[in-house]
Amino acid sequence: MIPINITRLQQEIDELALISENPAPVVTRVLFSAADLKARAHVKALFQQAGLAVRDDGAGNIFARWAGKDTTLPPVATGSHIDAIPNAGRYDGVVGVLGALEAIRALQRDGFQPARAIELVVFAAEEPTRFGIGCLGSRLLSGALPLERAAALRDSEGRSLDELRGTAGLGGLDLRQVRLAPQCYSAFIELHIEQGPLLEQANLPIGIVEKIAGPSTLHVELTGVGGHAGGVLMPGRHDALLAGAEIALAVERAALNSGSPDTVATTGVFRIEPGAVNSVPCRAWLEIDLRDTQAATRDAALKRIEAAAGDICRQRGVEFKLERLNVDAPALCDARLVETVASVCGALGLPFKKMTSRAYHDTLFMAQVCPATMIFIPCRGGYSHRPDEYSSPDQIKCGVEVLASTLARLAGQA
Ligand code: GLV
Ligand code: MN
Ligand code: MN
Repeated sequence: MIPINITRLQQEIDELALISENPAPVVTRVLFSAADLKARAHVKALFQQAGLAVRDDGAGNIFARWAGKDTTLPPVATGSHIDAIPNAGRYDGVVGVLGALEAIRALQRDGFQPARAIELVVFAAEEPTRFGIGCLGSRLLSGALPLERAAALRDSEGRSLDELRGTAGLGGLDLRQVRLAPQCYSAFIELHIEQGPLLEQANLPIGIVEKIAGPSTLHVELTGVGGHAGGVLMPGRHDALLAGAEIALAVERAALNSGSPDTVATTGVFRIEPGAVNSVPCRAWLEIDLRDTQAATRDAALKRIEAAAGDICRQRGVEFKLERLNVDAPALCDARLVETVASVCGALGLPFKKMTSRAYHDTLFMAQVCPATMIFIPCRGGYSHRPDEYSSPDQIKCGVEVLASTLARLAGQA
């Protein structure tokens, strides 16, 4: 058995959680915020202590490489993200970064010499908080996001990716060099908490991901007519908030009536102006997240939402703009890689379940570049994106054991 030091790993997870924009137990680390920059420097120092060669790319992805004996072989890659949405917990993404580091250190302690290099990737902005679009780093690595579209992204304060990566000290690195060359990795494996309840309910330590649901994001901008809450009589109102509220209900209906239990739709952002109790809302912005494991079902629901938004705004005399920020295909994981992880679980005596990921991950885009899959571990109650997100040290240890053994098999003993 590869000797995982779970005590040290848990300490490292807890230490990283303290680097946050909000006090514990909340973790918030938005791309290129002060907390994110500090966390990036912190994990890079840990990678260096493990003797890994560390580099950044222009998008803010971090690469930490354990060199292989045969430098002509493409490395096997692993990793996840350390950015965290507002009010998140400490395990989402982090288990796949610090867990991968511990898997590498355990292999080193075990005297393993990789034939091909093992590369740990920390993806920039898996979370959509800064620019509205998730998996920014892996989209750029895979080429799924054209550079012109990346250049047009703005955060809520109007700042561009170029401006922010400049303040992060990455301005000297060329964004055009971020895209990975074909065949640059032999495989990619991401360790992650499940973010759902199925493993816990089945009392299983490991899930192996076969498919990742396809996400999409819709931005809606509504312009109504503001005015005095006492003075503007009801028949003359063009309230942007009320149009938005009806659209949010249409979003819920589109998922409920899609015919598939897999369709999920969320209006997660709803901002209004001017935001005063005695003023009719004149503007509203909605950000809508819609997903399904079948692209066709998701796309049909997307069309129903767009049609409903048009009807609602016409009836209410509110102007609207709709933007599809991303509409991504579901990802199929590599069947051979899934079987490799299954065989590792068999060898370790760990029961597992093959499953679908309803959350998206950087693997969604890495699967476009090389054979890819994910290792899931249970999390309490299936909770995630909440401060009480929790996986036990034993659960994390099982995941890291499976990852370490899988990396060893894929890298090969030199
Ligand atoms: C990833 O964080 C997701 O929203 O699925
Ligand atoms: Mn997340
Ligand atoms: Mn995640």
